[in-house]
Amino acid sequence: MHLHALLPLAFLPLYTSAEPVGIPQPNDGLAISARARPDAPDGYAPAVVPCPQNKPTIRSASELSKSEKDWLAKRRPLTVDPMIEFLKRADIEGFDAEAYINRVASDVKDLPNIGIAVSGGGYRALMNGAGFVAAADSRTPVSTNKGGIGGLLQASTYLSGLSGGGWLVSSIFANNFSTVTTLRDGREDSSLWKFDSSIFTGPDLPGIFDSARYWTRVARQVSSKKDAGFETSITDYWGRALAWQLIDAPEGGPSYTFSSIANDDDFSNARTPFPILVADGRAPGEQIISLNATVFEFNPYEMGSWDPTTFGFAPMRYLGSNFSAGTVPRDGKCVRGFDSLSYIFGTSSSLFNAFLLQNISSVDGVPDFLIDAATDVLEGISNAQNDIAQYRPNPFLGWNERSNPTADADALNLVDGGMDLQNIPLHPLIQPMRAVDVVFAVDSSADTTYSWPNGTALRATYDRTYGDIANGTLFPPVPDDRTFIAHGLNNRPTFFGCDANNFTSDAAIPPLIVYVPNAPYTAWSNVTTFTPSYELAERNAIIRNGYDAATQGNGTLDDQWPVCVACAVMSRSWARTGTDVPAACADCFDRYCWNGTLAEASASVASGGGGDEYQPTFKIGDGQSDDESAAVMAAVAGRPAWAALVVGLVAAVAVL
Ligand SMILES: *[C@@H]1O[C@H](CO)[C@@H](O)[C@H](O)[C@H]1NC(C)=O
Ligand SMILES: *[C@@H]1O[C@H](CO)[C@@H](O)[C@H](O)[C@H]1NC(C)=O
Ligand SMILES: *[C@@H]1O[C@H](CO)[C@@H](O)[C@H](O)[C@H]1NC(C)=O
Ligand SMILES: *[C@@H]1O[C@H](CO)[C@@H](O)[C@H](O)[C@H]1NC(C)=O
Ligand SMILES: *[C@@H]1O[C@H](CO)[C@@H](O)[C@H](O)[C@H]1NC(C)=O
Ligand SMILES: *[C@@H]1O[C@H](CO)[C@@H](O)[C@H](O)[C@H]1NC(C)=O
Ligand SMILES: *[C@@H]1O[C@H](CO)[C@@H](O)[C@H](O)[C@H]1NC(C)=O
Ligand SMILES: *[C@@H]1O[C@H](CO)[C@@H](O)[C@H](O)[C@H]1NC(C)=O
Ligand SMILES: *[C@@H]1O[C@H](CO)[C@@H](O)[C@H](O)[C@H]1NC(C)=O
Ligand SMILES: *[C@@H]1O[C@H](CO)[C@@H](O)[C@H](O)[C@H]1NC(C)=O
Repeated sequence: MHLHALLPLAFLPLYTSAEPVGIPQPNDGLAISARARPDAPDGYAPAVVPCPQNKPTIRSASELSKSEKDWLAKRRPLTVDPMIEFLKRADIEGFDAEAYINRVASDVKDLPNIGIAVSGGGYRALMNGAGFVAAADSRTPVSTNKGGIGGLLQASTYLSGLSGGGWLVSSIFANNFSTVTTLRDGREDSSLWKFDSSIFTGPDLPGIFDSARYWTRVARQVSSKKDAGFETSITDYWGRALAWQLIDAPEGGPSYTFSSIANDDDFSNARTPFPILVADGRAPGEQIISLNATVFEFNPYEMGSWDPTTFGFAPMRYLGSNFSAGTVPRDGKCVRGFDSLSYIFGTSSSLFNAFLLQNISSVDGVPDFLIDAATDVLEGISNAQNDIAQYRPNPFLGWNERSNPTADADALNLVDGGMDLQNIPLHPLIQPMRAVDVVFAVDSSADTTYSWPNGTALRATYDRTYGDIANGTLFPPVPDDRTFIAHGLNNRPTFFGCDANNFTSDAAIPPLIVYVPNAPYTAWSNVTTFTPSYELAERNAIIRNGYDAATQGNGTLDDQWPVCVACAVMSRSWARTGTDVPAACADCFDRYCWNGTLAEASASVASGGGGDEYQPTFKIGDGQSDDESAAVMAAVAGRPAWAALVVGLVAAVAVL
């Protein structure tokens, strides 16, 4: 029996006081402004440009890029102050965070190195992931109040996203690293995050648009790429359409590139984490994406793979150039603008190509020529392959011929990063060279019948570390999906790999994983992956649900939660410096770490509800909260003390 679960009473003042409701407006004065830039030379069309004096080359993946190393040399020291503030707020009893962090700051290898990974799962993943990011962001007002985890984002080194999670990361970086609240609230005359208008019908900007004009503009952008001599695929249409919701610039910012993030002041001065998107490689002739598929990453400097197959990186800014065996031909020209931000987040989410194809023709006003154009793309490719994003020319042509399955191919075909079941972008964060200590893994996968996660994504990454493809990556043991469900590991935060001593001493130690599964805290956040539009109140409720998952309802479910988050952050650093784990943390680890036990063969996987499927019930309140936040807060604030105790008891039972 763990007492902490019974302590929400102590926390009542937080929600009985006149706290503002909802995630309030930021008072940081930040307006949305462009950050990744309209940097491409010719709108959406890639263009041939003279090569820079130092011609771009493919490099081996045997070390971190010089650019990343230089960036890290700035970033790690800049995480020191936010980390101290974060840890001081958490106030781990018996631990002097300021003294400790200041002591290890001189040698960053002992400083906690934090990553955040946001899973795929369409808009569900974007919204739920956004709630986590809002909670972790010290600029979100109240995130640094008692019960909050604000500042974790500012203390982080990496922020990775995949598919729907990649939309979130891209949108944040496309818009000047604006806060989630700022993006959410947008502007009157902007289609940013206005998910109530589906991308099929287009933005609802009265007097400016109708579906036909919107699609005509999308189609014109895509044709400009084709006219410039580059192959186009459904992914181009998908990415361009989505951009209207994610990039706050006219027509979805056709000339925004991913590499332009590297030129941004805040990023280049390391005042933000390092964004990474993930996609899977599809070898020629391959249909099914297995765990052996090569995993590719996109970051502001490069795209490529750490896997022993491709084992190389191309400079992001010059994707589209004719690399051959690692170099552009001596008299060859270079290409810029291929790394369109929308093409990259479209690639990472190419699962939705079929969604676009199958739905576009049913929307009134979509011009026939567009439907024809979209269908034309399929000519010469089988139906089963309409989910690929083509990277032609293949940057890895002639590269690593002995091990690279696409060394001979003119095009590199990439697909949605979740196709290999690794639906959380952990791969970039478990690369031993990045030496990440702790990963907050936000999982909005739809694994079960009712679109809740069941741990499959984590398990896939764990399993992959046993294949030849692992190439030195390690991952803490995680159990099977049945155990996740039977033991509730998919219903509350669970830590994996807590005990650094459980790994063989001479091998590197994988990061501790703080698994934050999507569960119903205050909203039904299990909307299906292919739901195309959301009322803004529902959007806000799901973002808030993600916020409540991240904070355990601002401490309602466990007032020690912020302490436990801080303990997870510190854990590997303490192991390295031989520091004793404070008692408060030992207690957290007792409660949140997976203890290595598997479910009995006979265990029912039903929990938290009736039926033989996983059907969780609300963890906080009764879910009558889907309008503008007031309802939930009123319900919670008006609840008598005994009701909070009941919530506490329910939580305790779930833990036992
Ligand atoms: C937690 O705080 C956030 C931000 O103020 C708010 O939106 C959310 O409703 C709160 N959750 C609970 C359960 O009180
Ligand atoms: C981006 O936001 C920062 C504050 O974080 C601000 O100083 C800067 O001017 C903004 N950049 C643009 C292009 O608006
Ligand atoms: C990873 O793969 C590369 C290329 O095959 C190889 O040179 C390297 O030794 C591998 N690293 C590990 C740790 O196995
Ligand atoms: C790349 O190679 C293709 C095929 O040979 C050619 O058509 C194209 O012009 C080349 N691009 C550049 C930038 O040299
Ligand atoms: C839209 O696409 C989804 C996913 O491919 C499909 O299940 C659904 O039937 C389509 N809806 C319409 C109206 O075509
Ligand atoms: C877990 O999710 C996977 C899909 O990701 C599904 O195939 C499997 O049946 C699920 N298992 C349980 C017990 O729900
Ligand atoms: C993946 O690679 C392993 C070797 O590491 C091999 O045993 C297995 O059969 C491969 N699986 C698939 C689906 O290709
Ligand atoms: C481990 O956790 C499971 C599920 O919460 C529990 O049933 C089991 O008793 C625990 N085992 C130990 C040794 O604590
Ligand atoms: C410790 O490592 C062993 C061997 O890899 C594994 O079976 C076990 O589940 C691990 N224990 C925990 C709690 O992760
Ligand atoms: C969401 O989950 C609940 C049970 O946890 C279920 O009753 C409901 O049908 C689910 N909604 C969707 C859209 O799957």
